[in-house]
Amino acid sequence: METRRILVTSALPNANGSIHLGHLMEHIQTDIWVRFQRSVGNECIYVCADDAHGTAIMLRADEKGISPETLIEEIRSEHTKDFSDFLISHDNYYTTHSEENKQYANFIFERLKANGQIEVRSVAQLYDPQKKMFLADRFIVGICPRCKANDQYGDNCENCGATYDATDLINPRSKLSGEKPILKESTHFFFTLSQFDDFLRKWTKSGTLQEQIANKLAEWLDSGLQDWDISRDAPYFGFEIPDAPGKYFYVWLDAPIGYLASFKHYCDLKSLDFTDFWATNSRCEVHHFIGKDIVNFHALFWPAMLKAADFRTPTKIHAHGFVTVNGHKMSKSRGTFINARTYLNHLNPEYLRYYFAAKINGNVDDLDISLEDFVQRVNSDLVGKVINIASRCAGFINKQFDGKLSEHVSTALVESSIAKGKQIASFYEAGDYSKAVREIMSLADQANRYIDEQKPWIMIKEPDHREKVQQVCSDGINLFRIIMIYLQPVIPSLAKKAETFLGVDELNWTSCQNILVDHQINPFTPLLTRIEMTAIDAIVETSRAESNNANEDVQENKNVIETIKYEDFAKLDLRVARILKAESIPEANKLLRLTLDLGEEQRIIFAGIKSAYTTDDLIGKLTILVANLEPRKMRFGISEGMVLAAGNGDQEIFLLEPDPGAAPGMQVT
Ligand code: MSP
Ligand code: ZN
Repeated sequence: METRRILVTSALPNANGSIHLGHLMEHIQTDIWVRFQRSVGNECIYVCADDAHGTAIMLRADEKGISPETLIEEIRSEHTKDFSDFLISHDNYYTTHSEENKQYANFIFERLKANGQIEVRSVAQLYDPQKKMFLADRFIVGICPRCKANDQYGDNCENCGATYDATDLINPRSKLSGEKPILKESTHFFFTLSQFDDFLRKWTKSGTLQEQIANKLAEWLDSGLQDWDISRDAPYFGFEIPDAPGKYFYVWLDAPIGYLASFKHYCDLKSLDFTDFWATNSRCEVHHFIGKDIVNFHALFWPAMLKAADFRTPTKIHAHGFVTVNGHKMSKSRGTFINARTYLNHLNPEYLRYYFAAKINGNVDDLDISLEDFVQRVNSDLVGKVINIASRCAGFINKQFDGKLSEHVSTALVESSIAKGKQIASFYEAGDYSKAVREIMSLADQANRYIDEQKPWIMIKEPDHREKVQQVCSDGINLFRIIMIYLQPVIPSLAKKAETFLGVDELNWTSCQNILVDHQINPFTPLLTRIEMTAIDAIVETSRAESNNANEDVQENKNVIETIKYEDFAKLDLRVARILKAESIPEANKLLRLTLDLGEEQRIIFAGIKSAYTTDDLIGKLTILVANLEPRKMRFGISEGMVLAAGNGDQEIFLLEPDPGAAPGMQVT
């Protein structure tokens, strides 16, 4: 098969904050795909950059009393270090504040202008007379014109959800100076996106986008494309527009051009041909990995710009959802807004890489990190299953056979594990890492089961069976090798350590068939230890403490008022239940095991109410059960729901009880 030549990007992180779990998910998702492509023998170049322009960065630098150039360089070195410690294999991590980017931005702008796709229009906008600058929506606050809530931003109300123009706010104030803004006219440059309607309708249906995204875009296209305002007035940190003093490119114009610029910089370093990848007749591929919040920039503006300037358009846009933690948006007060560095100070990056891989499925749904599940999953899969195969076989091979593998390997299991590679590769290619991981773990289960059945620790006591022991353990080591090849894109550093232990060259897909026979391995040192819950607690605590010192965050602000829709509430199946039996679990401090009568059926649940109730108190009591809660595996059994109680922590707990007369099974609405 022909080697594919692929250029891959992740969205450019803003240069005004630290790398956090959300960015990490995106870069880990991208990196796994990139490493997979390299493993199967494709040429795959991965570039990224910091997105260094815009008002927010300018103001942040002001606040710190440094130049924006200094600020963005400091942040870039922090970001670079964070990513490299998470084993993200960027070939180039550049900045949008670069000479190359300026040149491409100018070049594309000139092309658009020459095509008649740039128009100059007058715009009236709110202006801070004290700061002498125009105010973007997020720098204006006032009273919502609809619900009259205070302190709402200039674009939408977080209280009632209304969207409006900043000029509609009652009593608007500048967030920067507190002054009342005035309306002021200025000329802006517009990119006439409306001319690209036909092109975009075709392009968005050409298989470049995931189905969910293509459908969303079809809706947008049907509601009509607006021309795009691509200039901002000074003061602004960015590139000044040629022949337009005091006018700057809006940050979102030169941000995606940053992909070209970072790649160009890399081409110059490596003597690669830029046009191979970006000419309209290119046979190479271009893949962008982005979050669902920036799809319009990548699937409307960006292809239109590229098309207009006569570059090729992307092969594929891989959009993902948002990371949530324990079922909520990442939150500073909960300590779940976790920065890359905070994590790294306590835990090995490969745990997180593995956990993300186990959950990423290539669609745009949000991805939840349950911290307990994270610990449990990593410990049971990586340590308990994968590493375990090597550790239980290595001892025999090293102690009994001088580290020499048998001449007779290749059981059916080794062969079938090699054969599975094709399907696993197709899951990686499609971005469905969760399916790939599931298949790989099933191979690990089979390998462990095989060793369990053969029982080398018993066979070794019989001199006649020595050879068989060597063969079984050599099979085990070979299975471990195959599994590590499949996992290498996810856990590259562990794979490196495995190479040393196995005494082999690079573990990559193409070497999968090379079964190790009559081969010398090296002493086994523990490759990975279990995660302790205390490390997680420390991360959450530190994150909470950090947030108390940090500036208020806009994204965080948006979460203060969380409301749910009636339909969300209606999803709950709440039922009256009678407690038939209550049993204490001696090993558990807080839990009681309750048997509940729901009229038609009985349920077993575990409730953390031991401190407040004796088992006798509970028998016969009516209470309220969340009946459609996903069953949860606990240490002492499966809990099939949850009872509701009021309380303020562990000590005071008051079980909810319906008024007398309610019968088991009745619905609570
Ligand atoms: N600078 C722009 C991107 C320009 S690309 C030409 C930007 N920066 S960002 O720092 O806000 O976000 C960078 C990427 O991280 C985006 O793809 C965004 O979707 C992603 N994420 C930021 N927070 C996230 C989560 N909580 N979860 C998952 N990804 C999220 O947008
Ligand atoms: Zn409102």
